[in-house]
Amino acid sequence: MTLRVGVIGTGMIGKDHIRRLTQVLNGVEITAVNDIDQSSAEDAAPMGATVFETAEQLIQSEQVEAVVICSWGGAHEEQLLACIKAGKPVFCEKPMVISAEAAIKVMNAEVAYGKRLVQVGFMRRFDADYRRLKKVIDEGSLGAPLMYHSVHRNGQVPEGLYTSDMPLNDTLVHDADISRWLLSDEISGVEVRVPRRSTQGGELRDPVIVLLHMDSGVIVDVEISVNISYGYDIRGEVSCERGIAALPNRPATIITDQHGIRQAIPEDWRERFIEAYDQEFREWISAAADGGAIGPSVWDGYVSTLTADAALRAVEKGTLETLDLIDKPALYQQH
Ligand SMILES: NC(=O)c1ccc[n+]([C@@H]2O[C@H](COP(=O)([O-])OP(=O)(O)OC[C@H]3O[C@@H](n4cnc5c(N)ncnc54)[C@H](O)[C@@H]3O)[C@@H](O)[C@H]2O)c1
Repeated sequence: MTLRVGVIGTGMIGKDHIRRLTQVLNGVEITAVNDIDQSSAEDAAPMGATVFETAEQLIQSEQVEAVVICSWGGAHEEQLLACIKAGKPVFCEKPMVISAEAAIKVMNAEVAYGKRLVQVGFMRRFDADYRRLKKVIDEGSLGAPLMYHSVHRNGQVPEGLYTSDMPLNDTLVHDADISRWLLSDEISGVEVRVPRRSTQGGELRDPVIVLLHMDSGVIVDVEISVNISYGYDIRGEVSCERGIAALPNRPATIITDQHGIRQAIPEDWRERFIEAYDQEFREWISAAADGGAIGPSVWDGYVSTLTADAALRAVEKGTLETLDLIDKPALYQQH
């Protein structure tokens, strides 16, 4: 059976997901696209797909059984609510929404629907290296995790994302989500330290060090550098009671020449996480074809939004800011 999918937002990642869904994966036909920039939607539309003028029309269309949202974060709330109202499975890129109030609205709508429909785009959970790392921690031979060191280095900031809050608003969510998932733990508080500012980033607050305080007492330190110039470099190391478990460096051809011995570094997230995105969508297609969702949930999107909000307060005030989570609805207890 082929799942008929509509894609909203045909910018950088929307186009990459369209490529993935049409050229890499099976079981999907893209029947509809929409973007507020009509010409972008027309350029990105695969042969035979209808270009809809509004996201709402796409969501309502009988040509669309499931939706992929790749628009800007501020547009997600309305589009998610429309998908839930229509009872259509939906994959939504991070950030799920941009305020705690919006997250609770989406959660209430999904809980009222009575079944998970929303999957949030935290692709690291589908990365084979992170999955192996989690397996080692869960097996318990190293004892309890005590600290997690997470490094998130980006070559440069994409145009349009250049605000001083970007590292805490847009980048931190990936480290926050993977920390919760890897450690099977919840974030209770956030501190931020701002070291010497990189001259590469102008007004951007870059780099930053974020401390995530977990319910168990584990502390996660996250280095976020978004103008590191040399490439996209993701690292992670969990310090446990009786040993260390770390993400491996990605395999890459070893080049030897007059400059020495070296391995290439991924240019950006598309290259580093290419297999993770593929796997994320493989699992989404299967869940959506069954009328549901898998993996990162609305609850996870809610916690990541609260974490970003707490980090923004923490950097302004220089304090430890706590997360004031609502009770977790039963719908999300298993996830
Ligand atoms: N998971 C990841 O690693 C990852 C990586 C990159 C981007 N993202 C997320 O994906 C989303 C898109 O990012 P991008 O880099 O492709 O941005 P982009 O600016 O390249 O593309 C966004 C597109 O959405 C369109 N759009 C905006 N509002 C819309 C609306 N209301 N209805 C329809 N279309 C609308 C814009 O016209 C634009 O074409 C963001 O939320 C971003 O944070 C996630």
